[in-house]
Amino acid sequence: MSDLDSPPLDPEARWPEGLSIRARTPADAAAIAGLHNLPGYRYGTLRTPHHTPEEIRKVLENPASNSFSLVAELDGRIVGDCGLTRFTNPRRAHTGSIGMGVHDAYQSRGIGSALIGEALAIADRWLNLKRVELTVYIDNEPALALYRKFGFEVEGHLKMFGFRDGEYIDAYQMARLRA
Ligand SMILES: CC(C)(COP(=O)(O)OP(=O)(O)OC[C@H]1O[C@@H](n2cnc3c(N)ncnc32)[C@H](O)[C@@H]1OP(=O)(O)O)[C@@H](O)C(=O)NCCC(=O)NCCS
Repeated sequence: MSDLDSPPLDPEARWPEGLSIRARTPADAAAIAGLHNLPGYRYGTLRTPHHTPEEIRKVLENPASNSFSLVAELDGRIVGDCGLTRFTNPRRAHTGSIGMGVHDAYQSRGIGSALIGEALAIADRWLNLKRVELTVYIDNEPALALYRKFGFEVEGHLKMFGFRDGEYIDAYQMARLRA
């Protein structure tokens, strides 16, 4: 436990035993670089190879006030992260976007669900966002299942969205709307 830890914002949320979720800090730079350099994490995201702690630290030292950057910790190790960014254009202030990933060795244990649940609790309970959107590669079955489980729906098919390990890959635009 660290001083930054707090219980789930949604009292109904059930996190895996021993998991904590907190804001990331500059002291996390090396662990986050390691997370983002994992092959599975990179394959599912837009991360480029060989991130350094220094480049990550620069980002962590200049946090944007419209972004909430969470890390999940288990056994003293950072095992996932999730960012929620609210759009700054006043006419899109009801909207946010999410990006996330879980450590290759810790997937399918409920950590992704805990992270996105906490980000959506910020969106719903503390920012009153009406629309949360994200993109996901069309063959990323675990991510598609996770997002559907949390109410996201496919809105569009983005052709040649990203270049991944030697070829272009399409993505789905997904969103979750709240009345
Ligand atoms: C996608 C990702 C975030 C899911 O995180 P996770 O911790 O594995 O997810 P959870 O264990 O909470 O599982 C959530 C749901 O995903 C589905 N799921 C999990 N693992 C799965 C697998 N191997 N295959 C198919 N579906 C799977 C299940 O429906 C599960 O819900 P359930 O447990 O209630 O049945 C994780 O796989 C990951 O980080 N992958 C690499 C990076 C990435 O792709 N990031 C997302 C970019 S859009």
